[in-house]
Amino acid sequence: MIREISEKYSPLLAEIHRRCFADGWSEKSFRNILLQKCAIAFVEEDGAIIRGFGVANVVLDEAEIITFCILPEFRRQGLGKCLLLGLMNHLLDQGVGKTFLEVPENNLEAIRLYESVGFEKISRRPDYYRTKHEFQDALLMVLYLPVSTKSQ
Ligand SMILES: CC(C)(COP(=O)(O)OP(=O)(O)OC[C@H]1O[C@@H](n2cnc3c(N)ncnc32)[C@H](O)[C@@H]1OP(=O)(O)O)[C@@H](O)C(=O)NCCC(=O)NCCS
Repeated sequence: MIREISEKYSPLLAEIHRRCFADGWSEKSFRNILLQKCAIAFVEEDGAIIRGFGVANVVLDEAEIITFCILPEFRRQGLGKCLLLGLMNHLLDQGVGKTFLEVPENNLEAIRLYESVGFEKISRRPDYYRTKHEFQDALLMVLYLPVSTKSQ
């Protein structure tokens, strides 16, 4: 099941994020992000267990997914796709026509997931991600959403 959540979930989101990314964001970062009016966060949950989440910023009719993850033990079960589709439907209902995101070019799981719901690669930002040992290009992807009749 997926549902929208508030900034009260920041501690939990930070804990999940740390398990999904080498440079996970802090509780304070999540709180600051989710307190912004433009932010929307959705979780995927099974009863009381939150298995992943996605956060997007919405400005007028454009959105950007700023982070998205499923806990390692729950991957490859279709939960990421279900959460992403739910988030996209919600954005569509809000009148969003285009959703962007950036992904490291070596993150093939994520790129395949995004392509599986219709995102297309539109450009590349050279050396956008830096770790201790390497640079990675970022791929910029976009999904054009059909116009929703519900938002009109
Ligand atoms: C990317 C991520 C969210 C995918 O979540 P998931 O729940 O495992 O994805 P799903 O099971 O819904 O997979 C949907 C599709 O994505 C693709 N995919 C997902 N994981 C994949 C993998 N390990 N290898 C190849 N394709 C993969 C497949 O096309 C899959 O469809 P299929 O199972 O019918 O082949 C998850 O791997 C994750 O949290 N990774 C770490 C955080 C991250 O990189 N986030 C993205 C930041 S931009």
